[in-house]
Amino acid sequence: MIKPEIIERIRQETDIVDLIGSYVPLKKMGRYYRGLCPFHTERSPSFYVSPERQSYHCFGCGAGGTAITFVMVYEKLEFPEAVRFLAKRLGIKVEEEHFSGENTFIYDACEKAARFFEECLVKSTAAQRYLAERGLSANTVRRFRLGFAPGGNLLRGAALRLGISEAGLLRAGLVVKRDDGLIDYFRERIIFPIFSVSGRVIGFGGRVLGNGEPKYLNSPDTTIFRKGEILYGIFQAKAYIKERVPILVEGNFDLLTLVEQGFNNVVAGLGTALTPAQATLLRRYNQEIILCYDGDEAGRKACRRSLEVLFRAGIDPQVVVLPSGFDPDSYMRQMGKESFLARMEEREDFVAFVVDGRRLDSVSAKREILNELTALLRVMVDDTSRELYINRIAEMFKIDRVRLDNIVKTGDPARDKASTKRRCGQLEEKLVAAVVLEKEFARIAYEFALSEILEDETLKKIARLVEENWKKDDYGPGLLMDLAEDDVVRSRIAQWTFPDFMELALPSIDEFRNRVRRFRSQWLHNQIKVAIENGDEIRAESLLKERNRLLKDI
Ligand code: UTP
Ligand code: MN
Repeated sequence: MIKPEIIERIRQETDIVDLIGSYVPLKKMGRYYRGLCPFHTERSPSFYVSPERQSYHCFGCGAGGTAITFVMVYEKLEFPEAVRFLAKRLGIKVEEEHFSGENTFIYDACEKAARFFEECLVKSTAAQRYLAERGLSANTVRRFRLGFAPGGNLLRGAALRLGISEAGLLRAGLVVKRDDGLIDYFRERIIFPIFSVSGRVIGFGGRVLGNGEPKYLNSPDTTIFRKGEILYGIFQAKAYIKERVPILVEGNFDLLTLVEQGFNNVVAGLGTALTPAQATLLRRYNQEIILCYDGDEAGRKACRRSLEVLFRAGIDPQVVVLPSGFDPDSYMRQMGKESFLARMEEREDFVAFVVDGRRLDSVSAKREILNELTALLRVMVDDTSRELYINRIAEMFKIDRVRLDNIVKTGDPARDKASTKRRCGQLEEKLVAAVVLEKEFARIAYEFALSEILEDETLKKIARLVEENWKKDDYGPGLLMDLAEDDVVRSRIAQWTFPDFMELALPSIDEFRNRVRRFRSQWLHNQIKVAIENGDEIRAESLLKERNRLLKDI
């Protein structure tokens, strides 16, 4: 770990205008600097840098952050590497220290459990036979550290010998509490350790040997493992997917079979629909992606849903459609590598995928397809791609491209809905923006547990980050953006560091305190109603007490 003082010094001594200016020409515009966004193609500049706040934000694609995150994204480096990069630029020597954070024992439990599952695989002929039948070589098994969890709570039993604390097992989700004690979470399953981007084991997937329900089980989310923010195989793939377009598949075995056949640029979801955080993670490595989902209707649906998420993240997806009844794993194994490669060659862009197999011979059919396409064009952040696709679609549907362009720009019912939603959320957003920007406000957020009462998930995450860090000396949006684990959070914070565009006037401290207090008492009012409806008298009572206390102070 790099010493926090060093990171703080780098944050203070790096001039972000200087840094970004060495990559992108910037022009001074009032309090800010402006240029063409380096993260998506655009003709008119919407990328801003704030010297006051030492931040950047692109109002086109949403990219935003600090000097450190800029280097991470632009140079494709991990956090510590980016810090070293900036240190070198400043001529600062980076000292390391051994740091034991509060998650250390969870990482430790995961690592030791992974080793235990690997050992158990060596001892289980049934599990080894299963993996061999599915075509995996010893090499792939080793590289992905596949393992086996036997039945009978063996992990819990071995914990002492392995040096894993009970708290570690519990907090890592490796055991669950039952009336009669702790039992193993994974039993009689093939184990797939899930690695963080930097290669630490953070969670596990488990598949039954043969048939059984549920077929797959993943670790529950923990403080180090959030399914929506990581992808299976990203650690092993990351060295390949800068140069080669990543292939996204649905299943663990789809990934492993492709790896077995020499495709190293593969990642897989974790049994959920692709999330914005996963898309931005991929965007760090490549602007393109190939979706290779199952050939059935469910696979096509998942594919359609992913397109939107990918466009929003600034990624241009292509799709490989497998015949119905196949997934990448079974296709590769039954039809062979040559045939799979041929399928990959036949990949289509999103237009062909959406149109695929549907008839274009009636006006209403055409209109329906066109609506789907324009909805996707609307969320595309890359101007050049959008234009190219508009040309292609105009040609295909024989309509005027200017008209199509207008349809895309206007008449979007979904967008109107989204904007009213944002307006309703404005009070919440204003409160959170204020606590991010000023330490005194942050203290008030902490005092009133603001994160507890927010509805919006992203704002809630930000408020939590604020409450955990407001005491630090270098508290501010820069620190929070460096600490943020997901890009959606970072982008939101970056926006607020450009108040000229956000109608963000900060209130006085007293006024702010009153607003938060009123907000909390309103929330208490609603919670009390819910508690009474649920017959939870104890909770209602304690909430009521808090509310009375609050009201007395107003
Ligand atoms: P599939 O059901 O398509 O399984 O789930 P698969 O990958 O073809 O599995 P095999 O070939 O029979 O072993 C795809 C992915 O969805 C998640 C897992 O990550 C799986 O790899 N999944 C599936 C779950 O999380 N839970 C389930 O019960 C099933
Ligand atoms: Mn399969």
